[in-house]
Amino acid sequence: MEGNKAFDIHQVITHCALDIICETAMGRKVFVQQKSDSEYCKAIYKLSEFVVYRQLRPWFHPGWIWRLSSAGRENQKCLKIVHEFTDLVIRERKQERIEMLKESKHNESKEEDGVYMNSKKKLAFLDLLLDAQQTDATLTDKNIREETDTFMFEGHDTTSAAASWTTFLLSLHPEYQAKVHQELDDIFGSDRTREVTLADLAKMKYLECCIKEGLRLFPSVPFIGRKLTQEQVLDDGVVLPQGITVLCLIYFLHRDFKVFPNPEQFDPARFTHEKEGRSPFAYVPFSAGPRNCIGQKFAMMEEKVLISTIFRNFRVHAAERLEDVGVLCELVTRPEAGLHVKLEKR
Ligand code: HEM
Repeated sequence: MEGNKAFDIHQVITHCALDIICETAMGRKVFVQQKSDSEYCKAIYKLSEFVVYRQLRPWFHPGWIWRLSSAGRENQKCLKIVHEFTDLVIRERKQERIEMLKESKHNESKEEDGVYMNSKKKLAFLDLLLDAQQTDATLTDKNIREETDTFMFEGHDTTSAAASWTTFLLSLHPEYQAKVHQELDDIFGSDRTREVTLADLAKMKYLECCIKEGLRLFPSVPFIGRKLTQEQVLDDGVVLPQGITVLCLIYFLHRDFKVFPNPEQFDPARFTHEKEGRSPFAYVPFSAGPRNCIGQKFAMMEEKVLISTIFRNFRVHAAERLEDVGVLCELVTRPEAGLHVKLEKR
């Protein structure tokens, strides 16, 4: 990809993010970056498309009509592929754990928390659920599959969109990109290959401002919905009756010029003195309140690892103008036809 040829970085980052979430949520390497035409991978993408397709067609909202339609049947097939894959991973992981337990007992290396793990094996989210199942019999395999699938879906489109937008925005602004390069050089020196550590991530302060500003302009989740359990009176006296669903349009909230002057401008410095005088509800890329994003710390770490790896190795040049990029606010805020850049090796 290096060189004079422009390519869509969103697609590349999406495959990478899917690899990351499969490994961290399920403990499985699926090698999407090498083999993006796998059945599982295609089914994941199609399912997200079907959600939007159905949302925009009210006649498909009743379940029985949807199930009879060709799109509904195709959706069902994709669901089957995804469920079967997760079920298989769960079965295999359980078996692996039994074997590891035997091995660890044999080696008498019982870990403190009661989980026998080969110290070289990393724990995945799925392992935590399987641990929980050992003490909570009400947690069925189906529950575990649903939780794992939720993480798979919430945790890859969102992160890949954010990393892609931030990378693209930096490619449009060499002056901010130079600051990112400087910060990364201060952390890693000329070493472009060593693995990133938690301590490194904590030092990526300027990159964090860029990611936050990227999420302001292009919040991965463009809107959230809440059903009102009681009547709500707004500041201007407008009454919202109980029972209706209210949409909060994060995409527009983040463009309130009273809070973010010159809102369309990408300016990471907005976040260098964070929260100065700003309402905690003015900037909510991860939502707010009790149902906010439980993956936000993980997401921020993933963003930093991913984006820093790109900028440690490359200068990124935009191959199109922001004005020419179509923005789709579907389930996730994503570019309509990709984000095209060129890479120059540093
Ligand atoms: C930049 C990345 C991400 C963004 C911008 C983001 C944003 C959000 C938002 C706005 C919500 C709230 C939806 C609502 O209020 O209705 C949410 C919920 C959620 N997110 Fe994230 N998310 C990101 C990454 C992740 C990751 C990596 C994971 C998991 C590994 C994850 C797991 C979840 C889950 C499970 C929920 C539902 C929480 C609940 O209903 O209690 N998210 N996310």
